[in-house]
Amino acid sequence: MRESVLICALAVACATLAAVLPGRAASQTFPAVESFPDPRDLRPSNSPPDPLVMLDGRRVQDRAMWEKERRPELKRLFQHYMYGYMPSRPPKLNARVVREDRSYFGGRATKREIDLQFGSSVTRPIHLLLVTPNGRAHPAPVFVCIAFCAPFAAVNDPTIPVPTGWMYPGAPGIVNNRATEAARGGQVDVWNIEQTIDRGYAVALYYNGDVEPDAPSSREGVRWNLLRRGRKELDSLDWGAVAAWAWGAQRVVDYLVKDPSVDRKRIAVVGHSRNGKAAIVAGAFDERIALVIPLQAGCGGTAPSRGTVGESVTRINTSFPHWFNANFKQFNDRPEFLPFDQNALVALCAPRPVLFSNAEEDSWANPTGQFKVLRAANAVYRLYGSGGISATSVPPVNTLIDSQLGYFIRPGKHSMTKVDWDAFLDFADRHFGKPK
Ligand code: GCU
Repeated sequence: MRESVLICALAVACATLAAVLPGRAASQTFPAVESFPDPRDLRPSNSPPDPLVMLDGRRVQDRAMWEKERRPELKRLFQHYMYGYMPSRPPKLNARVVREDRSYFGGRATKREIDLQFGSSVTRPIHLLLVTPNGRAHPAPVFVCIAFCAPFAAVNDPTIPVPTGWMYPGAPGIVNNRATEAARGGQVDVWNIEQTIDRGYAVALYYNGDVEPDAPSSREGVRWNLLRRGRKELDSLDWGAVAAWAWGAQRVVDYLVKDPSVDRKRIAVVGHSRNGKAAIVAGAFDERIALVIPLQAGCGGTAPSRGTVGESVTRINTSFPHWFNANFKQFNDRPEFLPFDQNALVALCAPRPVLFSNAEEDSWANPTGQFKVLRAANAVYRLYGSGGISATSVPPVNTLIDSQLGYFIRPGKHSMTKVDWDAFLDFADRHFGKPK
């Protein structure tokens, strides 16, 4: 009831704003945070808004209302207040196979390097590494992998050229944000691609920096390429880098659904940390993605924005001002004003399986808060008659909860390891069926 009062007030504010901003599309007429009623009077400050209550106070009654009204509304809210509006699919996709090796990994796989180019406005291609298992009876289910590294670092393969674009500092072989030969194969143990192939899955890996370099002042990425005509700066509603990386995953899916070597009904997306944030955004906005695995994604992804452990909204917006849109900064020091929390992002994936995966020592990503986020998405999964998650507490380490909303935590630190991949593959086997 009190929730309804708050959201009715929000709805009135929306209508008012629509009247004063006639040039804005309907999807952009949400109010500024200053005009929100104070939510602290209405609910405990850590509890998230109910994903099943519309902005105008109506309660979602059934699946049809969720799909027709609330789900689109939530997608607009997340874009408006947090991730920024993502451009639609570019009209053209040109896929060029640059190199192919049919006897990869000692003959167990086929590798293709494929450049994905989207018309003339997006200046740089996504360099996709697609590795598919050989000798299988059916097209392979596939993991779309959003990576911190370019393909030449994810496999030991002397034929892949050293990339020339902006690279993350810190990894061996990266000098002045550019890759050198010494970085080749440096992330093989992160991606564990051979193991995935041997379990019957394909891997489609791309570097997030091909889409958008992770640097606040970069103008090399898709956000600048697609700036609406006549505009010289990004504005408060424009998308941040997390949305751009998610957009990249969707473009990879555009390609994969047309490639007969993979099973277009069994496409999973995986990303670690900031790329895990991108993975869950991609899953929430694209129903072609059948399974979603954000690893240690934390604040701005899988952890509650209202959380009190680990990274806060203020901190992430300060350290990484380019990850979200300018509007999101309105919630610094007052995340309880957000008209959603991350459980609603999980809910957008319903009824598809989602696995939250964590590490015990990674309190920055708030593993326990993430578990609560999953629990708070349950109601929407129930609309589909899907169990969501029935576990009521974080499981012991190394014990996979493999329900539709799954959870896994291992000992150790913030990183992607073979143990994580073992859990991802078990989770995929459970929901996709073991590949044949
Ligand atoms: C930082 C940041 C996190 C992020 C992580 C990563 O720690 O605060 O939000 O997930 O980097 O991407 O590795």
